[in-house]
Amino acid sequence: MTSKLRTPICDLLGIDVPIMQAGMGNVAYGRIAAAVSNAGGLGSIGGIDITPEEVEAEIELFRELSDRPLCVDLGFPANAPQGLSDVDVPELPGPLRQLKSELDEHGVEVVPTTDQAISVADNKKKLEIALDHGVEVIACALGTPSWVVEACHVKGAKVMSIVGQARHARSAIRNGTDVVIVQGTEGGGHTGDVGLITLLAEVLEFSTVPVVAAGGLVKGSQIAACLTMGAQGAWVGTRFLASQESGSEDVFKEAVVEAEYDSTLRSLLFDGLHVRMLRNRFTEVWEGHDDQLTPYPVQRVLTMPFKYAAMRANLKSHMSLPSGAGAGMINDLPGAAEILHRLTEETAEALRTAPKNVEFD
Ligand SMILES: Cc1cc2nc3c(=O)[nH]c(=O)nc-3n(C[C@H](O)[C@H](O)[C@H](O)COP(=O)(O)O)c2cc1C
Repeated sequence: MTSKLRTPICDLLGIDVPIMQAGMGNVAYGRIAAAVSNAGGLGSIGGIDITPEEVEAEIELFRELSDRPLCVDLGFPANAPQGLSDVDVPELPGPLRQLKSELDEHGVEVVPTTDQAISVADNKKKLEIALDHGVEVIACALGTPSWVVEACHVKGAKVMSIVGQARHARSAIRNGTDVVIVQGTEGGGHTGDVGLITLLAEVLEFSTVPVVAAGGLVKGSQIAACLTMGAQGAWVGTRFLASQESGSEDVFKEAVVEAEYDSTLRSLLFDGLHVRMLRNRFTEVWEGHDDQLTPYPVQRVLTMPFKYAAMRANLKSHMSLPSGAGAGMINDLPGAAEILHRLTEETAEALRTAPKNVEFD
């Protein structure tokens, strides 16, 4: 039997189950998004790390595979460069020179990349493409400017804002967002330092729009706890990363399955902002060297070539492996629809049977 699990956000977004597959760079493309949306959740394309043309191709692929709603995840950081020629790239700091020599030893060439698709112009173009293709939901990471909300609303798209601090939730609500996604420090990728249960309680006190929970969610019991607190849905990344349809490399998926409860850390290495990722040689080389950081986006311009070189060589020890703290509980690689189904059933079961061991009236 399939359980019913609905909140008002299902009507707002046109979905059956309030579980969303998070936007993830180099992981969440049209194929996984279609699998999740077809199963009744909300699938997302992670548009931050790919070019406008690639965003368009993935939306088109999604539309071939699904007629359900789609979310495209984009980033609008206040300090994005106008164009990449504006970024003065300094000498490599010591830890990255060390990484380069290790990659040399593995026969992996680090090729400078200029096409990073993170400029203001690229971000605007991606938004235009998504809206012209009738994308139903835009998720905004790293800030929600009011011009983005206005552009989305003109085209009938809903806006969801991913935040890691209460003050960022306030600002997104002021700028007109339709949904706030509250991500606790447990989350994979860019993440703050406040735990989900604390941040969620705080934002629920003042939010005038639906709130969705994120960060470390890999079990329905966790989602049930968030729904019980007043959240209207869950935005789930790492659990969907470890699935058949995710676009990540097999060695990345294996690393998530092998991960233990203490396998992740938050590092500034990747782009000068805190990113939760799996510990490996890539993160180890940087530990204790935050004094050599360059601010966003320069640090990102420096590390991107390393990320892509290790990815191309399938070198797990030196790859950038963003992952949530829930990775330690992930032990398999099912299909994305199966994950959605499991999370739905586990959530419904936890809501039916909770609270355990408590006497009250
Ligand atoms: C591999 C990976 C890549 C990510 N890339 C992005 C991204 O490009 N844009 C974004 O808004 N969030 C990104 N995130 C964060 C997710 O959207 C989501 O907020 C997070 O995965 C939730 O935490 P969880 O992984 O513990 O479920 C990424 C997360 C992971 C694990």
